[in-house]
Amino acid sequence: MAYVRMDGITKFYPESNVLANKSVDFEVEQIEIHALVGENGAGKTTLMKILYGLELPDQGKIFIRGREAEIRNPLDANSLGIGMVHQHFRLIPQFTITENTVLGNEPRRKGIFFDRDKAEQSVRGVMEEYGFDLDPGQKVSSLTVGQMQLVEIIKILYRRADILILDEPTSVLTEQQIHKLFDTLEKLTDMGKTIIIITHKLGEVKTVSQRVTVMRKGEVVAVRDTVDVDEKELSRLMVGKSVIFQFKREPMKADKVVLELQNVTVEEKGKESPLLENVNLKVHTGEVLGVAGVGGNGLQEIEDVVTGLCTTYEGRMIHLGEDISHRSSMELRKRGMAYVPADRLCRGSCLESSVLENMIVANHHSFLTGGVLRQGETFEYAKELTERYSISGDLRVPIGTLSGGNIQKVILARELALKSDCIVFSEPTWGLDVASSEFIYEKILEIRKAGVGVLLISSNLDEILGLADTLIVLYRGRIVGQFPNNQDLSKELVGEYMMGLRDDFSQGEQHA
Ligand SMILES: Nc1ncnc2c1ncn2[C@@H]1O[C@H](COP(=O)(O)OP(=O)(O)OP(=O)(O)O)[C@@H](O)[C@H]1O
Ligand SMILES: [Mg+2]
Repeated sequence: MAYVRMDGITKFYPESNVLANKSVDFEVEQIEIHALVGENGAGKTTLMKILYGLELPDQGKIFIRGREAEIRNPLDANSLGIGMVHQHFRLIPQFTITENTVLGNEPRRKGIFFDRDKAEQSVRGVMEEYGFDLDPGQKVSSLTVGQMQLVEIIKILYRRADILILDEPTSVLTEQQIHKLFDTLEKLTDMGKTIIIITHKLGEVKTVSQRVTVMRKGEVVAVRDTVDVDEKELSRLMVGKSVIFQFKREPMKADKVVLELQNVTVEEKGKESPLLENVNLKVHTGEVLGVAGVGGNGLQEIEDVVTGLCTTYEGRMIHLGEDISHRSSMELRKRGMAYVPADRLCRGSCLESSVLENMIVANHHSFLTGGVLRQGETFEYAKELTERYSISGDLRVPIGTLSGGNIQKVILARELALKSDCIVFSEPTWGLDVASSEFIYEKILEIRKAGVGVLLISSNLDEILGLADTLIVLYRGRIVGQFPNNQDLSKELVGEYMMGLRDDFSQGEQHA
């Protein structure tokens, strides 16, 4: 009898029109470390949120220790002994370890007053029981990320969890901290705990887990004993069969370099290895240069550098022959460099402002007479864009009320109106439905045909292989592979580079 059994779990998100889990069966044995792997968007977090009561499934049943369980919220999960450490920490930095640990579950004197002594005592008790070496009175803000991770684990142990879910616990940790975490996890299973760990990193699966479940596009595609499967096979299971779609593209007419990075390195204080290391790339006119990689391997940093949001890098950035290194995003915008960001809600738009305001924010100066906005003209302009981009939604409502696909189209309309020679797309279809995604793809190919240089940063391998002329793969901040995107390039092969199983540049120089 499986300790945890999820049976036929189906979850649809109407907001994004995504079927995140499709009749998923998932089983975990008692006292094992079970790895749950899959590409970005495969549905891993969704499945675990359902187990932890943060999302309700549309269909399916959950059995814990052989009994059917109704898990409507995290409190239900807690009372069944299930705890979860989230992908992003949820600690309050100004609070101590004790305060964070007991938060929401504080011991009280006379039922009212926070009993600090008792809290500290029980937290100390938990830490001694499981061998954590931390000072409960210490503020979380003074801890390393590795220690914060441990506090998250202490927090669920304090609630007496014996089924621990960890969502990508190692993505922010250094090698050393990862070792320490894995030691802790092994010790916890020795003490009878059952652990589910979500990860992208295949080496970690091999190191720490006994069994592994692989998800792809909302479905479970394999369940294996970890000793029976090597990293290559795991990688293939994760990315799936070879390219299924490739857009018809005219041969590219790359003649001139529009954007170039030369030996760009981004370091972060306290990190052993740089976030980006010696990255060289060139985007030509009429070329889509795809930057592929699993999230957390430097894609975000490339986006930040080329859009001027990160200016503290070594190396150079050249736009149309001119050195534009370390210029701010404002200055890059002034040069007409366009940008469709991954974070379309915070970076791409101002949610409280209207659709119209969001559309003209980049070029509003062209609607000014003596400092006054020509309202009628802006309205006509925005109306024309909504028609051309088939955006449904009133121009006067806050953009935050539109669907994800429509928000993205507004941003796209605004950025393409800049008539730039170079445009950066980051995760352009993340969370969008098929129709909106195809619309975006058509636009990208359209501007490519018009001779614009496109830098396409994406963790979606299908998207990159469908659109890019040239492709580079980032792993741990370094370019590990660079290829023309032709028939010979298979998805399996690129997948192996993305997972860090292949590296063409481990010693030598990179050629841009
Ligand atoms: N709250 C939400 N609303 C709408 N769509 C969502 C929501 N959460 C997830 N999705 C969508 O469901 C799909 C699965 O997402 P999920 O977060 O479960 O993937 P994941 O495997 O954890 O990916 P990652 O490795 O990037 O964390 C994605 O397409 C995502 O866009
Ligand atoms: Mg996730």
